[in-house]
Amino acid sequence: MSGLAALAGCGSPGAGPTGNAGLSFVNRLTVPPLLAPTVSADGTKQFSLTMQAGRTAILPGKPTATWGFNGAFLGPTVRVARGDRVVMRVQNNLGEASTVHWHGMRLPAAMDGGPHQMIAPGASWTPHWTIDQPAATSWYHPHPHGSTALHVYRGLAGLFLVDDPETTGLGLPSTYGVDDVPLILQDKILDADGALSENPKPTWGLIGSQILVNGVYDPYFEVTTTSVRLRILNGSNARMYNVEFADRRRFTVIGTDAGLLSAPAVVDRVQLSPGERLEIVAEFAPREQVVLRSVAGDNGIDEGEHQLLKFVAAEQLKPGKPVPQRLAGTPRIEATAGAHERRFRLSGSDEINGREMDMTRIDEVVPAGATEIWHVQNTVYAHNFHIHEVAFRVLDVNGKQPPAYLQGPKDTVFVPGKSTVRLAVQFGHHTDPTAPYMYHCHILRHEDKGMMGQFVIVEPGTEAAVPRTLSSHH
Ligand code: C2O
Ligand code: CU
Ligand code: CU
Repeated sequence: MSGLAALAGCGSPGAGPTGNAGLSFVNRLTVPPLLAPTVSADGTKQFSLTMQAGRTAILPGKPTATWGFNGAFLGPTVRVARGDRVVMRVQNNLGEASTVHWHGMRLPAAMDGGPHQMIAPGASWTPHWTIDQPAATSWYHPHPHGSTALHVYRGLAGLFLVDDPETTGLGLPSTYGVDDVPLILQDKILDADGALSENPKPTWGLIGSQILVNGVYDPYFEVTTTSVRLRILNGSNARMYNVEFADRRRFTVIGTDAGLLSAPAVVDRVQLSPGERLEIVAEFAPREQVVLRSVAGDNGIDEGEHQLLKFVAAEQLKPGKPVPQRLAGTPRIEATAGAHERRFRLSGSDEINGREMDMTRIDEVVPAGATEIWHVQNTVYAHNFHIHEVAFRVLDVNGKQPPAYLQGPKDTVFVPGKSTVRLAVQFGHHTDPTAPYMYHCHILRHEDKGMMGQFVIVEPGTEAAVPRTLSSHH
């Protein structure tokens, strides 16, 4: 019996089948290849990414039409170090316009790849910047306003890892694909013939119950070391994951979206809403097998229990080092007394502060280098909130401190229904009053429908003079 046949018949109304108990873990997990740059005489690293269509064998014998970077599905992993000068050459061979946004990167707005940096079909775009941020698991994906959900869903997403000489000495597992393994979690709706269904569901949009890890359905991973670092990305359009091991073993969270925690946090379950990343270290014994799964929650976007991946440990494992008790040396993000405060109210599935996204409207003007307090109030069902360019710390959720594992530097946060989240947001120094950055719900249907706003970063003292309307060529 195929995994799909097992899925059929356990449907729940509206949300499609729930659970995927029919998995047999027969497919070896693939890990996206590292993208090799060409390095010029001055040390600049140039990476080339081509957006293209292709076909992918997700289900046996039923090739699926997909999109990818430099291949049919997903994209290679870009890995850089703090201080690197990078040039990204992005070629669009999709046959329709798109963009590529560097989610988590701190860079000038004109290089950010948001909805203003459209790449016409057949054209290329070549942003460049200097990597100046702590070690982190970032990622890249399209961001064309109104079509982000479909472009990501069809397969355009990849990881963008930053190393930092300051943290390389910590002895964390760091052999890519061996003991430092990315897990890109995405849910799909695969029709019986293997095609990706693109019918959005009410409220959440594209939410399915076939979970792929790194694009692989029904996967296993062969463990060869006692400690394995997993860089988990929720790359789904809307689905939220409550991730745990089936035997409820504990594991160590070492990093959040924008960098390492200051101290490790030991947990037995973590939650990731769309766009969020976590770095964890899990321990394995020789010959053991254990399943990583996502358990059902009550947020509407985390229904059903889903097996994600089976870890299969080898007869002999290479011993790893214990996780050090001190991790990031970067001071935690603090807002000083009198910090500027802004309020954002999420309502319905398409509005922030009562307005839909308008590409020509600047909603907020922020002075360079500021640390502000942003209140994100959700008046309805589950949403989340992502801010481009920044790193933030979650101060509280409904007045309560978040769990220790969510107190690291972040750029995306879950905002439960009828809740308020307060963030201490640290802005960068790249000023440009005419090129906006985005903030939005990362449930991609909501973002596409208009639950998004724009801010510019400007020289302190010039805020009042900044035009609030952009001319249409932007
Ligand atoms: Cu991951 Cu504005 O996006
Ligand atoms: Cu982003
Ligand atoms: Cu939302």
